[in-house]
Amino acid sequence: MKSMDQEARRRVLLSSPLFDALPREALDDILARAGDKFVRRGQTIFLKGDEGSYMVAVLSGRMRISATSPEGREITLNMIDAGEVFGEMALLDGKTRSADATALEDSQLLLVERRDFLPHLMSNLTLALRLIDVLCARLRDTSETLGNFAMLDLPGRLSRRLLTLAAEYGHFVDGQIRLNIRLSHTDLGRFVGSSRESVNKQMRAWEEDGIVARADSRIALCKPDALRRIAGQD
Ligand code: CMP
Repeated sequence: MKSMDQEARRRVLLSSPLFDALPREALDDILARAGDKFVRRGQTIFLKGDEGSYMVAVLSGRMRISATSPEGREITLNMIDAGEVFGEMALLDGKTRSADATALEDSQLLLVERRDFLPHLMSNLTLALRLIDVLCARLRDTSETLGNFAMLDLPGRLSRRLLTLAAEYGHFVDGQIRLNIRLSHTDLGRFVGSSRESVNKQMRAWEEDGIVARADSRIALCKPDALRRIAGQD
């Protein structure tokens, strides 16, 4: 993978509200001290329980944050795209990693050490508030997911997840919302806490009813209103 030049790195970081809070010199200081890491699709960055004193900014590619049950079942907590960060929790509280991080695609990462980030955080209230925004968004997301797990059956959880993915990755083509991200039924199962087989069966039923379709190995929502009804959001 070709390394990004400094200007391209700066551009990616400035696309995130977090780094956009930094004056130019501060951003350059962080960039100058940060370490590069290239990871291949499927590669693990760290596991829950690992020690870690750095957070990670994604310059290109996509990461998955997940938790694994003692029986080995994986739940996806979040996906982190270019311009976003993860690993900020261990950087802030000095404890071990709270979840696993794996590359969903070949990715270029920037590792920012606690000692290089904290001085900026201490002297920049906007930066601190933006980081709190990141944490609030994660907590809101987790509360929503927990609520869905407790209150919804598989069609409910799956329809909500598809609608959330559509809000983030969807674009309109020929009256459908196409998700601009490749997701297998295993991936979807990890979002909703179900097996690939159960997701397969549900998606097939929805395909037969014309509610969803597969186009170019991507999912399309053909009847989002029907999904909203199933999700109890109409
Ligand atoms: P850290 O605990 O350092 O390492 C794992 C990272 O995953 C964590 O920082 C956050 O960046 C991210 N993370 C942990 N829990 C969640 C969650 N529930 N939702 C989204 N991201 C999370």
